[in-house]
Amino acid sequence: MMKKVESHVFNTARWHNTCKVAEYGEGAYVYDSEGKCYLDAIGGTHVISIGHGVPEIAEAIAEQTRKLCFLHKAQFTCEPQEKLADTVVEMAPEEMDRVGFVTSGSTANEMAYQVALLYHQLRGKVRKSKIISRWHGYHGHTVATIGMSGSMFVKGSNLPICEALKFPRIQPPHCYQCPYGLTYPSCELACAKELARTIEQEKPDTVAAFIAEPIIGGAGSAIVPPPGYYETIRKICDFYDVLFISEEVLTGFGRTGKNFGIQHWKAIPDIITATKGLSSGYAPIGAVIVRQKVREIFDRATENIALSLFTYAGHPISCAVALAVLKYISKHNLIERCGTMGKYLKTQLQKLREREPLIGNVRGEGLLVGLEFVQNQDTHKPFPRSLHITETIMKTGLENGLILRGRFGTGTGLDGDHILISPPFIITESECDELVSKLELTLKQVKQSLNLVVCTQL
Ligand SMILES: Cc1ncc(COP(=O)(O)O)c(C=O)c1O
Repeated sequence: MMKKVESHVFNTARWHNTCKVAEYGEGAYVYDSEGKCYLDAIGGTHVISIGHGVPEIAEAIAEQTRKLCFLHKAQFTCEPQEKLADTVVEMAPEEMDRVGFVTSGSTANEMAYQVALLYHQLRGKVRKSKIISRWHGYHGHTVATIGMSGSMFVKGSNLPICEALKFPRIQPPHCYQCPYGLTYPSCELACAKELARTIEQEKPDTVAAFIAEPIIGGAGSAIVPPPGYYETIRKICDFYDVLFISEEVLTGFGRTGKNFGIQHWKAIPDIITATKGLSSGYAPIGAVIVRQKVREIFDRATENIALSLFTYAGHPISCAVALAVLKYISKHNLIERCGTMGKYLKTQLQKLREREPLIGNVRGEGLLVGLEFVQNQDTHKPFPRSLHITETIMKTGLENGLILRGRFGTGTGLDGDHILISPPFIITESECDELVSKLELTLKQVKQSLNLVVCTQL
């Protein structure tokens, strides 16, 4: 028998060979093969909503597997896909009445971009081909979605792709580190108006779509735009005949306390992409939801259109899982709970900020809460990237039995460390308290180990 000396998994993450072996999960906790327990403060990277180890989902998988494993959608649809489409459309904002299923966030955004291109092409506007995105956004890891992403981390590792595609980007609505040095409301939403200027510069007849996460997730750690931001974006998109894609890979299906993150503003998008919360991590599936005005253009097409031809798109088992997850969410009122528990967690983290000057900003909606770390709470000055604050927090958190995830780059250049906390919606108040106390311990240890000097005075 072969002796396993190292992993044969092709994983380019530097820490892969020191990874723990995850054994099982239960509720908000996971256990490794040595029996160590971890509080999953990130819901397996902002995915898990209903918690680990829910028996109803295991039963749904088994039942669908016994019934039908797979058939291609060129000839067949299936009951779980049809029922899931009904449920998703019921949850979606008004005027959005069709949904296509894919396998991931990246493929959802690929499909949304393709829908936007075809929408314009079918109307004779063949030059409309560019997609505008934002710095600090993350949209996936296929070639096109890397091109759309504005995350400094992704851009740094994929420069040739970004150079080849050259998708235009605008500044994010990050009031805490305003890219213009302005303050809301006297800024008059300069960050939203930059979209109009960029469309003009790129030439309106070449721009197909604008893609944005309603609340910027992993790459910005819950950056919430100010009031009026998306209403302004919507008007600009309408004026220039540009489709607005609300990228809800993280915020879709309840994570912010509403069905979709964009519902915190009065703006109906043309396309929504959503994945993670749809199946709570029990199966890979994503959704692309389209507005009537888009769908009607496709209805008028006389030829077959090649769109979302991924073999496993709308896989019956994934659809059955998603259906069972959404049923579970509805039965246990988990979206409402996510809103109330999110408020509780945010309040506790704000109290922690008062005790711990390393935390500059606590932000977010529902159970999508971000923390940004600074040298000085008054000036918001970030730490230099060379200190690797985010990575040290993640590593120390893990040693303390707390799973955390963060990025950097929300300050200037690569500086600006932050983490995104997104536990399962079923987390309890006492588990939130445990999360905060483990985080407090972690931050103290990080400060000690890196000899950080943090001040609260100017
Ligand atoms: C906001 C956002 N968009 C897109 C993606 C890509 O999704 P996937 O990894 O399923 O392709 C992610 C993944 O974390 C994400 O956070």
